Amino acid sequence: MRRKLAAGNWKMNGTGAALAELEALAQTIGTPGCDVLICPPATLLHRAARAAQGSAIAIGGQDCHAAASGAHTGDVSAAMLADTGASHVILGHSERRADHGETDAQVRLKAQAAIAAGLTAIVCVGETLAQRDAGDTLAVIGAQLAGSVPDAVTGATLVIAYEPVWAIGTGKVPTLAQIGEVHGFIRAQLTDRFGMQTGAAVRLLYGGSVKPANAGEIFAVGDVDGALVGGASLKAADFAPIVAAL
Ligand code: G3P
Repeated sequence: MRRKLAAGNWKMNGTGAALAELEALAQTIGTPGCDVLICPPATLLHRAARAAQGSAIAIGGQDCHAAASGAHTGDVSAAMLADTGASHVILGHSERRADHGETDAQVRLKAQAAIAAGLTAIVCVGETLAQRDAGDTLAVIGAQLAGSVPDAVTGATLVIAYEPVWAIGTGKVPTLAQIGEVHGFIRAQLTDRFGMQTGAAVRLLYGGSVKPANAGEIFAVGDVDGALVGGASLKAADFAPIVAAL
């Protein structure tokens, strides 16, 4: 049985003052019936991990470099993330693919490095509106999965987040049938490649304009094991009801 996961991606938002929201979230959710993860910007990771200690909240990064160390100015390795107290890392988010030209092959190397450092890799996939309109959604997702997911994964080391690019921060959400179709497809792809056991164990998150008002119906869709939430993860008052809906 897969334990549900409510993951918040703060993106490039928050300075030290934002830790008050983390503390408020920890208090509000108490002992939830699902896993809860907050991925703050790298500058807050260490303090966030300390603030979350003893609570139900795990902490994750938003990216890592594929190399263990070296001449990569401005980058952070997976081991460095783990050293802050992080247990997860988001990889291949569409904003990184767009802003930094990250390819599937690079995401795969990053995921390998993350898993080697003891982190759970949350690998993001998702189609653009043009790709959906062209009827290419499943082909795009299939190619991203094949290219971005490393060969050695388990239900403990890999999470997949399906985030349609056109649904991120737009208030637009696919129909429940569309979400179900893509999640079912991802599950089938994972099962084909990794076998029944791993295919059934990897958690699949939906991301893109998840709010307290739509979380319940999205979480009821088959093969949706939680959410990767952007804007609505910034405030405890918004994220706590999403956690409660799982
Ligand atoms: O990674 C989460 C994300 O891209 C979704 O953002 O603001 O639409 O919930 P948002």
